[in-house]
Amino acid sequence: MNRRYRKTIIAGNWKMNMTPSEARTLINGVKAHCAKSKWCETVVCVPYIDIPLAVRLLKDCRISVGAQNMHHEASGAYTGEISAAMLKDAGVKYVVVGHSERRQYFGETDALVSEKVVRALAADLRPIICVGETLQQRDMGITLEIVGAQVKAALSAVGADKLRRIVFAYEPVWAIGTGRTATVEQASEVCNHIRAVLRKKYGARGARSVTIQYGGSMNETNAKELLAELDVDGGLIGGASLNADSFAAIVNAANQ
Ligand code: 13P
Repeated sequence: MNRRYRKTIIAGNWKMNMTPSEARTLINGVKAHCAKSKWCETVVCVPYIDIPLAVRLLKDCRISVGAQNMHHEASGAYTGEISAAMLKDAGVKYVVVGHSERRQYFGETDALVSEKVVRALAADLRPIICVGETLQQRDMGITLEIVGAQVKAALSAVGADKLRRIVFAYEPVWAIGTGRTATVEQASEVCNHIRAVLRKKYGARGARSVTIQYGGSMNETNAKELLAELDVDGGLIGGASLNADSFAAIVNAANQ
């Protein structure tokens, strides 16, 4: 991380876990442990149904609430969907866009991710854009091409004035929920490449202002060494964010 130019952000992605009653306990635990976080911004990306509760419980503290998805259209006949404006009005600050689980199980394409990014920014939400290669792509030696293409596609309609609102999360698909973390060198190489792609499009000044997280089996044991890398500005945490102590330990590592 490099706090001189950009914010360090640790975000929990609860995925499809935590009923509202379970969420209450976890949020109170996170609040007790993380509210004093000095250097890094802490975010909990909760299921839609937990958003009102999370916003209420975290109202007077510095932990922000995020959503895990949103629809790309502004409003209308899309039964069962949630819009960016609804999230904003409910008190949400961040929204995860293009998570590999959404790309894999719900057919989300780079083009759709780009539309969601534009819509999120228009509603004054900060998108956390997920990018990452599969194991097969890594084995084929095309990781940087794949991730670079995802980054370019996601930002195809984003002007330089909005760049500071964007967060990237590099999440190698093979490291998600597997207990297999990318090595520090692998994480650093790809985060570095993401910044190089940003630099090419927006210039050095814009590129250095963007927070780039690592995600994929990040936990209290490996967080510190990953965050020591200059281009790894935080984490998007799945499994370990479901336990207040583990999540707090990662936030602490980011505060060192
Ligand atoms: P895990 O931390 O459970 O591997 O999940 C990572 C992730 O997908 C966060 O978005």
